[in-house]
Amino acid sequence: MDLGITQKACVVTGATRGIGLATARMLAADGARVLVVARDADEAARVAAELGGGCSSLGADVTDQDAGERIVATCAERFGGVDVLVNNAGTSFVRSLEELSDEDWQQQWELHVMGPLRLMRAAGPRMAAAGGGRIVNVCSSAGKRPSLTNPAYAVTKAAQLSLSRVFADRHAADGVLVNAVAPGAVTSPLWTGPGGLADQAAAARGISHDEALAAQAAKIPLGRLAEPDEVAAVIVFLCSARASTVTGAAWSADGGTVATIV
Ligand SMILES: NC(=O)c1ccc[n+]([C@@H]2O[C@H](COP(=O)([O-])OP(=O)(O)OC[C@H]3O[C@@H](n4cnc5c(N)ncnc54)[C@H](OP(=O)(O)O)[C@@H]3O)[C@@H](O)[C@H]2O)c1
Repeated sequence: MDLGITQKACVVTGATRGIGLATARMLAADGARVLVVARDADEAARVAAELGGGCSSLGADVTDQDAGERIVATCAERFGGVDVLVNNAGTSFVRSLEELSDEDWQQQWELHVMGPLRLMRAAGPRMAAAGGGRIVNVCSSAGKRPSLTNPAYAVTKAAQLSLSRVFADRHAADGVLVNAVAPGAVTSPLWTGPGGLADQAAAARGISHDEALAAQAAKIPLGRLAEPDEVAAVIVFLCSARASTVTGAAWSADGGTVATIV
């Protein structure tokens, strides 16, 4: 299938690891030009060099108030426009409702809602003026079905799903198609890396790293965590010319975790 993304100008936030890295690699392999965004500028530059094909990088924290405008302007400057935006940067940690501080709640809000909001506010009108574009917000199954692992994550991911739909409705008539992807647990560094969710769950429950991963897999109908590439494939399809009638969707890529038909 020809995805129709050759030479498209793409922003991928959180593109140095996990789902974002897999997405950037897949877009670049199809001939798109990717602006690799992460806080670690050296790592972003290393990934952009690995991607080749005119890809570029920017060190930026998406929670900075000016980051949305700065990232989108950089993409337009370097690539001559912005065709695709993937709001992927995000994180979680194991913290109970009782342990979560106001600061934790605020940080999760800034990262999952204000960051993507400012990026869409900067990119949406530019895409509309150019005749269209694609935006994909990487949300979570936890936004569809709240989890007590980190309630601030679940609540802000639910808000991000709503935010995605609001922008989809705002820009449908402009040809800017906005969709959300809701992954379940994925074998990215967030889950499997040192100090990641598996290690945190293991410490909280007095079990091993592998036992924590097995316990998580047992909750998933497919019986395993997803690979980053499997989620990236859904994201890249939604970024493509082939997804021309999909907007406002909240596409689960969770191995069947959230049992809903809507
Ligand atoms: N892994 C899962 O099980 C899972 C499940 C459902 C949803 N998700 C969602 O999928 C997305 C990607 O998760 P992942 O598992 O691939 O995470 P990851 O492996 O931890 O990678 C996170 C990426 O985001 C960047 N990042 C983090 N905070 C940032 C910030 N403030 N500004 C800019 N970049 C930032 C990181 O680079 P720097 O540290 O250099 O900034 C890194 O490139 C997140 O939105 C997450 O909530 C993940």
